[in-house]
Amino acid sequence: MLVSGRGSNLQAILDAIAQGGLDADIAGVFSDKPDCTALTRVPARLRWSRDAKSYADRAAFDAELGDAIAACDPDWVVCAGYLRILDNGFVRRFGDRLINIHPSLLPRHPGLRTHQRALDAGDAEHGASVHWVIPELDAGPVIAQVRIPVLPGDDAAALAARLLPAEHALLLSVLRKAVAGRLSPPRGA
Ligand code: GAR
Repeated sequence: MLVSGRGSNLQAILDAIAQGGLDADIAGVFSDKPDCTALTRVPARLRWSRDAKSYADRAAFDAELGDAIAACDPDWVVCAGYLRILDNGFVRRFGDRLINIHPSLLPRHPGLRTHQRALDAGDAEHGASVHWVIPELDAGPVIAQVRIPVLPGDDAAALAARLLPAEHALLLSVLRKAVAGRLSPPRGA
């Protein structure tokens, strides 16, 4: 699992595993933000974090991150609130098992501030997508999406809060397929 922030998606996965709703183990939790809350949700032995700012460039950080992940030999590499672009070398290395959850109905609103951008665009619906990661930001093939209506009076915070539980359910449903061997990587990954 790759995380940068609060880790509610990670927590949903941990809860599902604990309750027998996901037949998986977390091999490691990796972060570019050593102080992030997400890391505190797992035992210290599962945590890896480095301050990305102390590396010469993105490739240097991603190479070390990739080595740490490879050492765990995970079946899946899941970006669950990982808010940093992964370089091409990392994507080539793990692309056949690398997925991300993104809070928009891709291809609408790649990048940041997705909830506000959905409101600004007057979208009637908003949602989240789980997709394969490719070198281009938030542009890999979509695996599954969840949709919610935009309601009158919604602001970005209200929309984000209403979407979050649906995001968790979406990511879990994709991970159940993944661990059951029912998710095929895109051609060329
Ligand atoms: C989630 O909304 C996730 O979709 C989003 O960050 C949030 C992380 O929440 N991811 C992205 O924006 C990736 N581009 P969490 O730390 O509570 O799981």
